[in-house]
Amino acid sequence: MIHLSINGQIVEAQAGQTILEVARANKILIPTLCHFNQLHAIGSCRICSVEVAGSKTLMAACVTPVSDGMVVLSHTAKVRQMRKVLYELMLSDHPADCLHCDRNGCCEFQDLGEVLQVKESRFVGKRSKSAIDDSSPAIVRDTTKCILCRRCVSTCNEVQGVGALNAQNRGFATEIGPGGRERLGTAVCTYCGQCTTVCPVDALHEKDSVTAVWQALSDRYRKTIVQTAPAVRAALGEEFGLAPGTLVTGKMVSALRQLGFQVVFDTNFTADLTIQEEGYELLSRLAALAKQQGRIDDRQLAALGLPHHLPDPVLPMITSCSPGWIKYAEHFHGDLLAHLSTCRSPHMMLGALTKTWYAQNNGLDPTELYVVSIMPCTAKKFEITRPELKTCGLETVDAVLTTRELARMIREAGIDFANLPDSPFDSPMGESTGAAAIFGTTGGVMEAALRTVYEVVTSRPLPFENLHVQPIVGLDRIKTASIRFENVLPAWSFLEGIEASIAVTSGLSGASQLMDEIESGTSPYVFIEVMGCPGGCLSGGGQPRPTTPEIRQLRLQAIYREDEGKPLRKSHDNPDIRKLYEVFLGQPGSQLAHELLHTTYQRRNKI
Ligand code: SF4
Ligand code: SF4
Ligand code: SF4
Ligand code: FES
Repeated sequence: MIHLSINGQIVEAQAGQTILEVARANKILIPTLCHFNQLHAIGSCRICSVEVAGSKTLMAACVTPVSDGMVVLSHTAKVRQMRKVLYELMLSDHPADCLHCDRNGCCEFQDLGEVLQVKESRFVGKRSKSAIDDSSPAIVRDTTKCILCRRCVSTCNEVQGVGALNAQNRGFATEIGPGGRERLGTAVCTYCGQCTTVCPVDALHEKDSVTAVWQALSDRYRKTIVQTAPAVRAALGEEFGLAPGTLVTGKMVSALRQLGFQVVFDTNFTADLTIQEEGYELLSRLAALAKQQGRIDDRQLAALGLPHHLPDPVLPMITSCSPGWIKYAEHFHGDLLAHLSTCRSPHMMLGALTKTWYAQNNGLDPTELYVVSIMPCTAKKFEITRPELKTCGLETVDAVLTTRELARMIREAGIDFANLPDSPFDSPMGESTGAAAIFGTTGGVMEAALRTVYEVVTSRPLPFENLHVQPIVGLDRIKTASIRFENVLPAWSFLEGIEASIAVTSGLSGASQLMDEIESGTSPYVFIEVMGCPGGCLSGGGQPRPTTPEIRQLRLQAIYREDEGKPLRKSHDNPDIRKLYEVFLGQPGSQLAHELLHTTYQRRNKI
């Protein structure tokens, strides 16, 4: 431990800590702008400048390490004056049209002006050439608002490993965007939206769907049907001042009804359905491999109840519910697309069932249905535009609202969210199990699938305490485990004694590592779960800001609480899913299931 003085207060610190870290640990507030958690500290904005005895210049607290005996002054007249000048210079090249800006009231640049007591800039000078890039269906770039903090650059390159954003040009002409004059709509951007969660201003945000949804809600010739993803209920409350980790499932349903949606379904229902389809797809691939190796014959295959046309035995199989991950794989791993499960993501399954099964059963014209998905994800806005995901020639889902956009609508409608009573989802697609709830976190889809696959094969529950596969619970970038199949049912004897290795990753840089292993033939895994956002959907690109490591942890705990509080915790126990197969789909992997619930992929450019 070392000792230093900050504003005359002697404080303890560890060697290697920065002045900012030590100040924060001692409740001394130093303003920052470009710095962001553990992710980004490059000392570019200098707003955190402080005086350090013996230094000729002011030092940036976020990048300056402490030393024994250091004397720091954080709010002298010189420091305050310097911060104001820096802020005014940034403001002189900023539109400052806060009243018309989506970030008004939740903007770090605006908040900083209040802290520094700067109302206007004394400097009038040249303005940067700026443009709005709305070429992507998911993310809008507004360079007029960019303050060049480069948080998005660190996120896109280091956390996601994509590299769609970088600083282009130099000096006053510097602009953050894709290289080679590309726009986001044609670059390698996965639309994960992680850059929108770290941007301190309105320079990166999701494409607006609120206007279209309000229009649909006021169109008396349309029936509006909404569905909500598992992770939304664990974060929406934060937009209304509730503590992170507060589950607001019932209030969310009430708010959606008050907004005017006529039917409120739960994407968790089709998360349970995904487990049936994906679980049987994995078992089919394993059976296909056993057949190829001569360990099982046609008679044994018929007894398993698997679809007649077995898929190619391409292993490891990789989950497919994260559209940011899918687009990443299409750009960077086009040779490995056969490893992806063919299952559509759960909200696309629900959209397809709404426009077919639900419409038929209720005598409705599917062209008059308007299906809205409330998602933690910006990439879902792109997913609904994919031509291969249409249903009977119609859009499967008509609009996607992020959690943040839903909160904006609730505020605009004057709904007192925090004091709403709870409401249940509508039937027939409102019932779900705990396995579906954990789709909202990294490791959840894998654990949900294992709960079903293990029980199908052995007729016993997954042999882990409280059904949690502990090695894959938590927020580590890559998690692995293995499951041994013992005393399996006679029909599954070809799996007896197999030790199945599995891997789970979230954030695209981890995915890249696992894909490289597959490419080089060294992957030991049978099944891999990939979620495009770090931590999974709970920290999706459309979730409330900020998403810090502490907030991620609280949302994760809320999701597991929801799972553990459910009377049914395994997808195959959902009675409404069983009924859906009985009355409509037939069996998992049936021809109808393939038409409505599965999809294909396409290679995309790498540059
Ligand atoms: S980004 Fe912030 S400061 Fe800039 S116009 Fe929007 S609210 Fe105002
Ligand atoms: S949406 Fe994701 S991939 Fe695209 S620029 Fe932002 S962080 Fe990078
Ligand atoms: S787009 Fe946002 S996060 Fe990226 S550099 Fe500009 S202000 Fe910072
Ligand atoms: S916050 Fe320290 S340099 Fe920007």
